[in-house]
Amino acid sequence: MAEAAPASPLHGPRCWVATRSRALDGAFPVPGDKSVSHRAVMLAALADGTSRIDGFLEGEDTRATAAIFEAMGVRIDAPAHARRVVHGVGVDGLRAPAGTLDCGNSGTAMRLLAGLLAGQRFDSVLAGDGSLSRRPMQRVMEPLRLMGAAIASDDGERPPLRISGGRSLRGIDFESPVASAQVKSAVLLAGLYAAGVTRVREPRPTRDYTERMLQALGCPVAIEPGGARLAGGSRLQARDIQVPGDFSSAAFFLVAASLVPGSSLRLHGVGVDPRRTGLLGALRAMGADIRESGRREGACGPVADLEVRHAPLRGIDLPEDLVPDMIDELPVFAVAAACASGTSRIRGAGELRVKESDRISAMAGGLQALGVRVDETGDGMRIEGGRLRGGRVDSHGDHRIAMAFAVAAQLADGEVLVEDVANVATSFPGFEALARDTGFGLRCA
Ligand code: S3P
Repeated sequence: MAEAAPASPLHGPRCWVATRSRALDGAFPVPGDKSVSHRAVMLAALADGTSRIDGFLEGEDTRATAAIFEAMGVRIDAPAHARRVVHGVGVDGLRAPAGTLDCGNSGTAMRLLAGLLAGQRFDSVLAGDGSLSRRPMQRVMEPLRLMGAAIASDDGERPPLRISGGRSLRGIDFESPVASAQVKSAVLLAGLYAAGVTRVREPRPTRDYTERMLQALGCPVAIEPGGARLAGGSRLQARDIQVPGDFSSAAFFLVAASLVPGSSLRLHGVGVDPRRTGLLGALRAMGADIRESGRREGACGPVADLEVRHAPLRGIDLPEDLVPDMIDELPVFAVAAACASGTSRIRGAGELRVKESDRISAMAGGLQALGVRVDETGDGMRIEGGRLRGGRVDSHGDHRIAMAFAVAAQLADGEVLVEDVANVATSFPGFEALARDTGFGLRCA
């Protein structure tokens, strides 16, 4: 790539000092969607021809994915910020990488690549950072092995993953025990290389970007109620891809502006696919004032501008069926609950324990450190809303926990030290400056 290498977390800021803000105001686009950016690079790399990706997320996770494809012989130009030109090599055109493929902090990269690499002629090894090395991979290894893949891990469950190439894969009808777009996508990507039909059924619908993008590139994927199905052997045709703004990044501003009196923010061009926007329903049920305008259809679902104004929030029992549609927003939802009147409950969110950190314990611990009464349960928490005091919270190197506590601090009575924040660059480079511009009290320690 022509661009400078991503800043290493080792060189980024380690801590923030965050303090109560003035009313937030501003109008801005949020950075590109992480899930879509990963898939855009992966599928454009496998296509015949050249694809231009606009709105690409310049985060460490998505840059790691691009670097992995470069290591497998794909030319990727970066002519401008948030733009990539991917010279596709075709579904059978990847070359054996010289070394281990480093997925950094990204579960999406590792799980989707496990599926894609299972169907190649060459061997590969997928590794990641400390957090990713603790995350469960059995959920993708099992179905891929049923398809005939050879994938090994030193302890049978966690990265690095050693994938032996040259296997003949066969299609399977897989009923996933977890509602996970990563698992579904891994199986479908392996299905591209498998004989016959591959079908994935999921317990609850999850984001369908892999399916939609495969369709957009000419692969006939059937999106069915409860899952998806494709036949192996399809080729992909290059096409230009516009990445929408990431709702998960917008979420921090939606909650912050709802909570801080006098605030008003406009966020442009945000992806508002229903499989991502459970938080909108939850915040509205709490009394939030969030309006949508300019809705248009994008290649990966609807896109809209969101306008949020301060409104008093009250606690809710979060309906369990909203959980998969706001799985990445639950940390910042917990902040909204902590600052709302009354009690809120989250249930059915056990998946949070195997994200970049154990997000139930990280949120419960951090909120307690700020004086909030929180009871942690196996699959959620009970949060009593009230006033927050200053204190020290550990984000456990988890980008979403760090940003959630930057929001919490805007309501706290004293200074909040948020520790271990360098990984914010994985999903939202520039968060700190953007947040400060809108009125956040936030600086590096
Ligand atoms: C993602 C799926 C979700 C989400 C993650 C991104 C994706 O993970 O939490 O941040 O891009 O497919 P799971 O598949 O583990 O639910």
